[in-house]
Amino acid sequence: MKDQLKAIEIEALEKINKTEDIKKLQDIKVAYLGKKGSLTSVLRGMGKLSKEERPVVGELANAVRQQITASLEEKIEKLEQIALEKQLEQEAIDVTLPGRPIKLGGPHLLTKIMEEIEDLFIGMGFEVREGPEVETDYYNFEALNLPKNHPAREMQDTFFITKDLLMRTQTSPVQARTMEAYGGNRPVKMISPGKVYRRDTDDATHSHQFTQIEGLYVDKHVRMSDLKGVLDIFAKKMFGNDRDIRLRPSFFPFTEPSVEMDISCKICQGKGCSICKGSGWIEILGAGMVHPNVLSRAGYDPNIYSGFAFGMGPERIAMLKYGVKDIRQFYTNDIRFLKQYHNA
Ligand code: PHE
Repeated sequence: MKDQLKAIEIEALEKINKTEDIKKLQDIKVAYLGKKGSLTSVLRGMGKLSKEERPVVGELANAVRQQITASLEEKIEKLEQIALEKQLEQEAIDVTLPGRPIKLGGPHLLTKIMEEIEDLFIGMGFEVREGPEVETDYYNFEALNLPKNHPAREMQDTFFITKDLLMRTQTSPVQARTMEAYGGNRPVKMISPGKVYRRDTDDATHSHQFTQIEGLYVDKHVRMSDLKGVLDIFAKKMFGNDRDIRLRPSFFPFTEPSVEMDISCKICQGKGCSICKGSGWIEILGAGMVHPNVLSRAGYDPNIYSGFAFGMGPERIAMLKYGVKDIRQFYTNDIRFLKQYHNA
């Protein structure tokens, strides 16, 4: 029996030694030390031994069990260590690799122009107000001296939603809303940037959706020369000190008199070129003195208050300032186009 035990020990240790797999080591444990294992079955025969032999064999059996257990544990630990090292090596991060560059975005050219214009007027004491893009017929037209069926409505082809609701065709309704909100007895000095909509066919200079910035100044004794002064500052700040402006008579139902403002052409220094179509002047915006009907409808007494208003298209201004040839470039979001102006 002692020989049997010794043989089991030698065999088990040899197997452990050769095995390089943790799972197989578990199998070896079961095969030798488990309930049906070979060491256990040898020990079952202990009953047949004499009293003197039993403790001696028992002690030996224990020693064999301990030896096998110890070498199993040692081997498992060793294999685990190797596996861990291998894993660490595989998962190692090379901190010396160069990083992937992050693409930087920037504000849209139109956003930049609008913010630039806003800042300019805020600097002259105007506040920024917003109004709804889905507007009532009343604020978009009637409050602006454009009754239903007035022929001048045809100047702005409109997307109607219902008989009385429409997509605003201009930012001018914000004029009427602001004057109304101010109650007729305080000065108003505001600009209103935002989107407007017209039933135009899109081409290089037309878009069914574009932006406008409205301006309104109402107070006692506001004169045409105030309008001219503000617009002159605007033109010089926006396009350069060497620019002149001129006001030409025009027509808008909500201003009287109405004007259109031109700036002198920079390309030809006023001599006439293809950009200014030979005239030396480029049209920039519409403006005028607020019509008495518009003032009184909004609660301002035209005998006491007067005002000027203007409306401009930031797309047009950006196109002139940066030489953009097609208005659709603002809306098609071609990164190659937009990127050119990140540092503009
Ligand atoms: N709302 C006018 C337009 O869209 C522009 C304008 C605004 C003209 C204010 C005069 C005064 O054409």
